[in-house]
Amino acid sequence: MTGRLAILGLGPGSPDLQTPQVSRALEEATDLVGYETYLARIAERPGQRRHTSDNRAEFFRATYALELAAEGCRVAVVSSGDPGVFAMASAVFEALEAGPPAWRSLAIEVMPGVSAMFAAAAHAGAPLGHDFCAINLSDNLKPQAVIERRIRLAAEADFAIACYNPRSKARPDGLTAAFAIVREVCADDRPVLFARAVSTPEEHLRIVPLPEARAEMADMRTVVIIGSSQTRVIAGTRFLYTPRSAA
Ligand SMILES: C[S@@+](CC[C@H](N)C(=O)[O-])C[C@H]1O[C@@H](n2cnc3c(N)ncnc32)[C@H](O)[C@@H]1O
Repeated sequence: MTGRLAILGLGPGSPDLQTPQVSRALEEATDLVGYETYLARIAERPGQRRHTSDNRAEFFRATYALELAAEGCRVAVVSSGDPGVFAMASAVFEALEAGPPAWRSLAIEVMPGVSAMFAAAAHAGAPLGHDFCAINLSDNLKPQAVIERRIRLAAEADFAIACYNPRSKARPDGLTAAFAIVREVCADDRPVLFARAVSTPEEHLRIVPLPEARAEMADMRTVVIIGSSQTRVIAGTRFLYTPRSAA
């Protein structure tokens, strides 16, 4: 098969945070496949086709991208941030596994991007400097009980926790439940970073102590980093960090 499939991450927003490898793959692609909000970030090129879809139609989008590559197209499947972090890379591999054996000989490459948690952490200092985990708070693809168990165990293990998809109109209460669990497990005032629209002109960073953290401080363009017991703000600066040694 002559088709190619690049599964790539655009980074969190700024073109400066998009890798040269990703820029090249976007230039070379005959077909772009992705959620329309992400495709809107890419400059139009004559002759390049765009296949947009709803953000929930991941498996459909992944299958379609593989079909196009099997027909000989050079396809780029686009995610924000990193394609392997709560994004399209897994969906493509699920579709590959379920699809015709011939798809397995396609040239497929995953191209990393700067994930929202890394851009947010960098702009605030270094809150992910020691052990941390990332949890997707959306209950679209897993039950709420699993999310809550993972939050509890992560807090008990004293990880810094990066929360993706923290809050939506359909799901206004998940983050409130997450904060309640962390407060129950850790009765201290560890800092919480709300990082909205990182690396875009609308970027807004806010750090509050855990007892003051409220779900209303986040939306779907926010990544929330709940510090570990060691995470702290350096007085007189805007910086938040977690030291590299454990307590
Ligand atoms: C479906 S996930 C995709 C994550 C993406 N693959 C990544 O690695 O950043 C979407 C979530 O990522 C976070 N996110 C993406 N871009 C962001 C940005 N520029 N600033 C803050 N959070 C962002 C938000 O939590 C949002 O709800």
